[in-house]
Parts: sequence; structure tokens; C-alpha cells
Amino acid sequence: MAKGVLIAGLDVGTTKVCAIVGQMIEGSMNVLAVGSAPSNGLRKGIVVNIEATVESIQKAIEEVRNTSSVEINSVYVGVAGGHIKSFESYGAVGIKGSEVSRVDLDRALEAAKAVYVPLDREVLHVIPKEYVVDDQENIINPIGMTGVRLEARVQIVTGSVSAVQNLIRCCEKADLQVIDIVLEPLASSLATLKEEEMKQGVVMIDIGGGTTDIAFYKNGGLAYTSVVAIGGNHITNDIAIGLRLPVDEAERVKMAYGTVLPDNGTDEEIGIMVAGRERKSIPRSYLYEIINPRCEELLEIVRGELEKCGAYEEAIYGVVLTGGASQLKGLDRMAEAVLGLPVRIGFPENLSGLGDSVSDPKYSTGVGLLMYGAQNETQPVITGDMFGGILTRMKNWVKGFLGKQ
Ligand SMILES: Nc1ncnc2c1ncn2[C@@H]1O[C@H](COP(=O)(O)OP(=O)(O)OP(=O)(O)O)[C@@H](O)[C@H]1O
Ligand SMILES: [Mg+2]
Repeated sequence: MAKGVLIAGLDVGTTKVCAIVGQMIEGSMNVLAVGSAPSNGLRKGIVVNIEATVESIQKAIEEVRNTSSVEINSVYVGVAGGHIKSFESYGAVGIKGSEVSRVDLDRALEAAKAVYVPLDREVLHVIPKEYVVDDQENIINPIGMTGVRLEARVQIVTGSVSAVQNLIRCCEKADLQVIDIVLEPLASSLATLKEEEMKQGVVMIDIGGGTTDIAFYKNGGLAYTSVVAIGGNHITNDIAIGLRLPVDEAERVKMAYGTVLPDNGTDEEIGIMVAGRERKSIPRSYLYEIINPRCEELLEIVRGELEKCGAYEEAIYGVVLTGGASQLKGLDRMAEAVLGLPVRIGFPENLSGLGDSVSDPKYSTGVGLLMYGAQNETQPVITGDMFGGILTRMKNWVKGFLGKQ
């Protein structure tokens, strides 16, 4: 990407909408502006109120404009939600004993794509994991090899057509052109994972407000992704119900005192505001008792996902935990215990300019969208059927992401 081209990432999350503008300078991301606004139009990662979402997007963009005088016209947008599913597929074609060409590779990918997808779902990504030429497995780039049979082993990611359409509509209503839609687990991975981790095997888990995004990498590419519709908001709601508090106070109490670590008998007292006026003291262990089962439930679901995709045998670098809710006290230690893998907290690093202001796990998706934009060298022009155009690029972007094919 030419130096000086501005890129904007728009993370439309369940708790916040954030717009981040940056510029790639000599291989490092220079953050120029950040705008963030509370999000009220999403539930579990999906737009449920167009008007409220448009308003949040406009506020985030306005903050960027007011603080940096940068005008955002087009954005890379993240998509998540429990509707995102992925599964394995493969497709084989004959190559008649000659050299594998780009055309053969595309034919094999097309064959792998020929799977049944319900009408209300759309294939968002076809991600090549490896190729097999005759009996030789684990080939990353088969072009130029000779054989009689080429097989593409891929990961197919599907999502709800209406969920993606609604997200695009919100951006359009906020006068933003959507350059591309990027799966949020992939964006967060770009911002938090190291190349060596992706090569050797690692799992990225982004615990946000309404969703938990999972991405498993091996051999340098994505092997599996899914989105679980549970996040930090569920913990807040549990606290609100358990302690009979308004949601805002439950959120404050969670941020200030929330923990999944037993207090080892110290039984510290904490202050809560009941009905907005009366201050009451409760033992902090009450919070632990409310939060612990929900986090355990979430991590058990994640464990099931990791068992399903074979991460236990291959995630040598363990787990990178990110997203706002990864900040909950002791959650990394609990994840180590429940998942039985080493865990580190991941957040965007090595950024210049305003980089420090987004070096926080909650900005992993937003910064990852910038990284994705930077990889996407030329800005595609959107013509004709916008939704169709974006979906075509969504299917193709992985080629650029892997960059070696
Ligand atoms: N220090 C903290 N302790 C506990 N929870 C926290 C802390 N900081 C943030 N959170 C929680 O993180 C969640 C928000 O995370 P994030 O900003 O990554 O979500 P989002 O991107 O808006 O949502 P999603 O990705 O699910 O659509 C909220 O539930 C918030 O309470
Ligand atoms: Mg998020």
C-alpha cells in the first residue's frame, strides 16, 4: 500500500461502535484518529435496531471528525454474531499429469464450495487450508507442481444474509461506503496474533459484550472459526438480577470489583447503590458466586468448540484472550484451568501515533480492521449491486490474507 493512504476500520460492537483511522508507514500502523460511542442497536453481535445503530455510527464518526479533522467516507466493517458458522469441505479436480495452474486451483476451490447452504445463509468466506497433489498433503501453494489430481481442503464460513445486509444498510444510512466486510474473529486475530503463533498453532478468543469470537490458526492460516452468542453483557445481567440492581450499576460494580477468583476467606465488603440512592455493603464473594458460573459456562462452550476443531492437538501456542471482557479479574487464569491450555492476554501492539489510546483488548477488532485494510492493497471500487459485490470480495479476500497463493 502506498504510504499516506488513509484506512478506516469500523467496529460495530454490541456495547460500543468504534471508528479508527490509520495509515501504514514503513510497515507499521500509524493511528491518526479514534472515535467511540456507546452502541444501543445490537443484540448478541447482530443489528436489531437500525436507527439506534446508525446514530451510534454517526457519533463515533463525528468524534473522529472533531478530534482530528479527518473525514471518513469509506470503511472496513466487521461482522460477527451467533449466525456465523464454519465447517470443513474439500473439492478435487483432475490435472491430467500437467503442472497445476491458477485456473486449476480456482476450479478445486469452486468444487469445494459446492455444498448445500440454506437459502437464508450465504457463504461468506472459502478459506483454503491446504492442498493435496496426488498423495502429497500439507501443500500451501501447489502452483507449478505436477500430478494427476488436485484437492483443495477448505474452511467454509457462512452467515445470515439479512444480518450482513442490515449492517451494510446502517453504514449507508450513516453516509459511509463499505469497502469490505471482514469477519471479526479474523480482524481481532490480525491485531493480536504473531506470525509464529499462527504458524505453530494458536487459538484467539475475543470476549466482547454480546459475543465470544473464536479463531483457530495452524500452518499460518485459519483452520476454524465460530462465534458464541455469550459475552460480558451476560455477566452484567446476571449481576443485575442476582443483586437486584439497575444494569448501569451492575456494570459499574462488575468493572470495579468483578472477579472470578475466590477471595480466600478475606470476605472484603464492597459498596453498591440500590435503586440509585441507598448505599449498601455486600461481601465481594457474592459477586464471585454470580460471575463464576457464567464464565465457567462460557469457557466450557469454548472448550467444546476447541475439541470439535482439533485445537487441542495442535494449538502449541495455546490461547490468546482478548476483547473487553478478557479484562475481568482472573479470567485468564480461569481460562487456563478450564481449557487446559496456556493463556495470554492479547491487545494491539507496536502502533505509532495515537497507538497507545487503542492498546486495549477492546480495540482488537477495530485495529484488526485497519490491518486488514492495509493488506487489501488497492481499494476496490463498488459498482452495481453493492451487497453482491461485497460478498464476491468476501469470498476472495482470504487469497489476499494468506498472500502466498
Ligand atoms: N475491566 C473490565 N472488567 C470486566 N469486564 C470488562 C472490563 N472492561 C470491559 N469489560 C466488558 O467488556 C465488554 C465489552 O467488550 P468489547 O468492547 O470488546 O465488546 P463489543 O465489541 O462492543 O461487543 P461484541 O464484540 O460482543 O459485539 C462489556 O461487557 C464490558 O463490561
Ligand atoms: Mg467486539
